[in-house]
Amino acid sequence: MAVEKKWWHNAVVYQIYPRSFMDSNGDGIGDLAGIISKLDYLQQLGINLIWLSPVYRSPMDDNGYDISDYEDIAAEFGTMAEMESLIQQAKQRDIHILMDLVVNHTSDEHPWFLEALKSPDNPYRDFYIWRKPAADGGPPNDFHSYFGGSGWALDEASGEYYLHQFSKRQPDLNWDNPRVQEEVHAMMNRWLAKGIGGFRMDVIDLIGKEVDKQIMANGKNLHALIRQMNRATFGKGDYVTVGEAWSASPQDALLYSAEEREELSMVFQFDHIKSFWDEREGKWRGRPFELGRFKAVIDKWQTALADKGWNSLFWSNHDLPRAVSKFGDEGEYREASAKMLGTALHCLKGTPYIYQGEEIGMTNVRFATIEEYRDIESLNLYQERLAGGMSHEEMMRGIHANGRDNARTPMQWDSGPNAGFTTGTPWIAVNPDYREINVAAALSEPDSILWHYQKLVALRKQHPVLVYGDFQQLFSEHRQVFAWLRTLEDERLLVINNFSADRLTLEIPEAMQAWHGECLISNYAPRDQLAVSIELQPYESFALLLGR
Ligand code: GLC
Ligand code: CA
Repeated sequence: MAVEKKWWHNAVVYQIYPRSFMDSNGDGIGDLAGIISKLDYLQQLGINLIWLSPVYRSPMDDNGYDISDYEDIAAEFGTMAEMESLIQQAKQRDIHILMDLVVNHTSDEHPWFLEALKSPDNPYRDFYIWRKPAADGGPPNDFHSYFGGSGWALDEASGEYYLHQFSKRQPDLNWDNPRVQEEVHAMMNRWLAKGIGGFRMDVIDLIGKEVDKQIMANGKNLHALIRQMNRATFGKGDYVTVGEAWSASPQDALLYSAEEREELSMVFQFDHIKSFWDEREGKWRGRPFELGRFKAVIDKWQTALADKGWNSLFWSNHDLPRAVSKFGDEGEYREASAKMLGTALHCLKGTPYIYQGEEIGMTNVRFATIEEYRDIESLNLYQERLAGGMSHEEMMRGIHANGRDNARTPMQWDSGPNAGFTTGTPWIAVNPDYREINVAAALSEPDSILWHYQKLVALRKQHPVLVYGDFQQLFSEHRQVFAWLRTLEDERLLVINNFSADRLTLEIPEAMQAWHGECLISNYAPRDQLAVSIELQPYESFALLLGR
């Protein structure tokens, strides 16, 4: 059975982290005018959707994921008029904006929370989640915030605690309250009326939480709340919605994304990311990349969502390390491995997401001191883990490997001061490798990662087999090669990726030895046929449209 076709199935999404993308006025902070100035660049890349990380008014405790007004723009990013202009100017280039919908929590400066603080009988009190202290006067239970410390903060005036799964400046909304639902739906409809393309939904799997049972993700009301949101807002039009769901299993993803469920277009799942985390210390004591696990996870998701639902495909985002640093090679094979990762991403089944800078192979940053970091998570957890006995060196290794600021150093536009990101002092230091790795250099080099990405984005529009072809893994036991076949009616696409720095000989099974066709993309000399065996170069990757 085939999924019903949607316009965004062959589209590619580009994620912008506004603070780090382009600064137009020299205050060191990326802004909307900066984004508008780069729309031609994005059009040239060929993307049709932008996921815009939050630009709303915010005290910026978590760089905008703490919103104090959903219907105004943070002054440092610009104005609502500029936001509307961005929506229109993008649309003229056939690019639609996905707004980041952060409604598991607000900022503690949101008027709802300010009202709620006034007294326990304030009409907004029940917009948030309050509990009496435990018998010893401490927090109601031992729930731990993702950003360190208790997930409960004391409101001294009333003696009650409020829940915050992230920082204490990000109080959780009470989604059991119908007034919260109505307010959020109305706000979403006003954004849709401005002409946006849909929403990326921040930690959406947390909104159905059952607090007293300490069930935070995947609570019993979750899917009902999403269906209701769909009916009240984006379900009325042809919008794209992608939910961030760290807790999602493939079965959950089917609930979210199977069409007849009328929930979301797709979700971000994180199995391939979490497979490198330590069971106890999480990302701060990561395991090295191991292809076997990675292949098993991707295979599981490709297979589970083969006939129903839809996958989102991504290697990186603003919370994760840089793709080439995590899954490829930052050194000698940076270009080859970044292209290989791009090919793998665009040749899987689902909608690809490119994180800003990935298209030029930007790498992780390794600041020498904790003071150079800006991310609330890294800073808080550094303190917490050191207090818990972890050494400075080990925690810095964890931050270097997996900290969120890896993805948040400024976009590298050229080899001039501050990588062309700002004429002022950037809010976070530029990665020193910008002199070599930057957009200007990539544009002028016909063989660059950037042009490789541009070609991949275009291929998805030209060849339906990339979009709708069934996925079947090949060489599944191989420890360095990740390969697959995509099949759509009589079209077949063979994709072979060497995920290692080794030159190796791949023995081809007899039934495949005569395969030949048109090489759609490669990162070394193009290949048009297989043989008894093939010699793969380090991180070599190619996609062959098989002829009959
Ligand atoms: C999501 C965002 C992350 C943010 C958190 C709280 O995981 O991607 O950046 O800190 O939610 O809003
Ligand atoms: Ca600025």
